[in-house]
Amino acid sequence: MPDQAILNHAAQIIASVSADQRADTALRFYFEGHRYLQPPAKRLISHTVFLYYRWLSWLEPKASPQKRLEQAVAMHERFVADPKAVKAETLSVRAVPTWLATEMDLPHDYLRQLQRDPALWLRARPGQSAALAKSLFAGELTDRAPDALRFTGLQDLFKTEQFKTGEFEIQDLASQLVGVAAAPKPGETWWDTCAGEGGKTLHLCDQMQNKGVVWATDRNGRRIDTLKRRAGRAKLFNYRTDFWDGGSRLPSKTKFDGILIDAPCSGVGTWQRNPHARWTTTPEDVRELAATQLALLNNVVVALKPGGRLIYSVCTLTRSETTAVADAFATAHPELEPHPLPISPAGAADSSRIFLWPHEINANGMFIAAWKKKK
Ligand SMILES: C[S@@+](CC[C@H](N)C(=O)[O-])C[C@H]1O[C@@H](n2cnc3c(N)ncnc32)[C@H](O)[C@@H]1O
Repeated sequence: MPDQAILNHAAQIIASVSADQRADTALRFYFEGHRYLQPPAKRLISHTVFLYYRWLSWLEPKASPQKRLEQAVAMHERFVADPKAVKAETLSVRAVPTWLATEMDLPHDYLRQLQRDPALWLRARPGQSAALAKSLFAGELTDRAPDALRFTGLQDLFKTEQFKTGEFEIQDLASQLVGVAAAPKPGETWWDTCAGEGGKTLHLCDQMQNKGVVWATDRNGRRIDTLKRRAGRAKLFNYRTDFWDGGSRLPSKTKFDGILIDAPCSGVGTWQRNPHARWTTTPEDVRELAATQLALLNNVVVALKPGGRLIYSVCTLTRSETTAVADAFATAHPELEPHPLPISPAGAADSSRIFLWPHEINANGMFIAAWKKKK
């Protein structure tokens, strides 16, 4: 059990969380105002706050915040000691909101995975994952993605020399698999339409070995500024940035070899890492975001070259934002054909679409679909 000081910090943070201030934002603000807290204390406080939201439905509503935090930690310890001690039927009604069952299957292994601490994944520079694991003294490789490394250490990664010199990015395995699925080739021209802070842009640039170009657009200029800083650290120069608000007016007349739409979504696939979102995301969000995703896909399709690939990814698992969007889009675009994803398992019924489940890859949940424009 964390000591009283940690519980007090966590209780103050929880009190500042609201519909408008998510738990991760509240944590960031709190740490900015309490600069004396050292990384080990911050880690414990964050962990305690996230346990609170992970076990929220089990806590006594009338107990004091400190008591509820103690209950959450006790639930976590019981679960870690014996994951089967919490019945799967109980998890299906308490670990997630009830509306979720109308949007996706809830396998027991998935629900158990949601209650575990999430893994932290790094992406090493191409071909460098084994060397990075060695130099950080703490990392496990996976054969799912060539440059992925699960970090198992405790050091503050942002303070490591390897981070400062661009030897790795912090990037979830599911996000790395989007880049692997896109498989851009050196010399190609790609458009990363919803580039945000550039996690996937940098991966595309890296795979293209600094040759060819990735256009990175977003409607949020601050995110693009972060992308530029990250690209500078990684010494990647084969990209250019622009503003795109998602509308039918495209930022360029260029025709692309590949387009990635890593679309805004409800983020259900991130609920292990971000448990507060389980209690703030609504079915209306899912409906609205599904409509946005379809509009984005419809708007960019004209920018594909004949033979060009379109990759659609969302870090969610709801039917409305995954298969329903992909089906509606495919029906409206007979000029496209499904394109097999290099990460699909052999013998998959439809190798042009894949659901990545948190309990299968020990990472975020993700849906990826691919099409090719007929020649
Ligand atoms: C899932 S995030 C992208 C994450 C990013 N690709 C990465 O790997 O780091 C979705 C992005 O879409 C942008 N976005 C949201 N709504 C949009 C819209 N209607 N049109 C264009 N971009 C939008 C957001 O600003 C956000 O950066």
